[in-house]
Amino acid sequence: MSAKKLIAANWKMNGSRALVEAVVQQLTNLSPEVDVLLCPPATLLPLFPASQHYALGAQNVSEHEQGAYTGELDVTLITETGATYVLVGHSERRQYHGESDQLICLKLQQAVNGGLTPVLCIGETLTERQQENTEQVIAKQLAAVYASHPELLAKSVVAYEPVWAIGTGESATPEQAQAAHAFIRQQLAQYDAAGAAKVRILYGGSVNATNCSALFAQPDINGALVGGASLKPSEFMQICQSAK
Ligand code: G3P
Repeated sequence: MSAKKLIAANWKMNGSRALVEAVVQQLTNLSPEVDVLLCPPATLLPLFPASQHYALGAQNVSEHEQGAYTGELDVTLITETGATYVLVGHSERRQYHGESDQLICLKLQQAVNGGLTPVLCIGETLTERQQENTEQVIAKQLAAVYASHPELLAKSVVAYEPVWAIGTGESATPEQAQAAHAFIRQQLAQYDAAGAAKVRILYGGSVNATNCSALFAQPDINGALVGGASLKPSEFMQICQSAK
């Protein structure tokens, strides 16, 4: 696993040419002690100049190869944009598009086979946490991948995103996040035959410039997957600088 933290931005269905220009301008001043991944809507990916200051990612990938799938993007079309990563299994895909663990595993497979690094998003809902099922949910989401394609986890980044912290302004506490990350690390270690224990684990869910330092101080938090705060160039830059 890289000692450098990875700070990823998930713009979701937001952005503009002006935002691309503002974020690129900010990041040209970032020193190389942190890895940055920008995941704008796919239509904006070609607007980013190639840079050593950031990598680019898509927010979703089809489980199919090129063909008659209107509205979809396969791994080759994503790669044409210069993207080298792709988010897979984000809770909003699971919630709004009914993506199952099995479908997510097919997407992971397409991404890895096509040379992209997937960011596998996992996490529990508020009800699941209140019922103390967090570890059971996380274990199931990871096991679905390992059961069919154990080699995929070692080639992925994992993002722990408690659904109840996404977009709410209520981040998990550093202790809650660390406990979940440690459990994920322990689960990945069980799969270590595929080298999965070296995977970077990002925290996502209401990360901002105020709470990020305490999160990054946790031993098993290797970075962040940032939503709303990544749409504010100066705040996103502060989060990246806090991750050094
Ligand atoms: O993928 C990151 C996203 O789900 C987190 O969103 O706005 O809570 O930082 P936000």
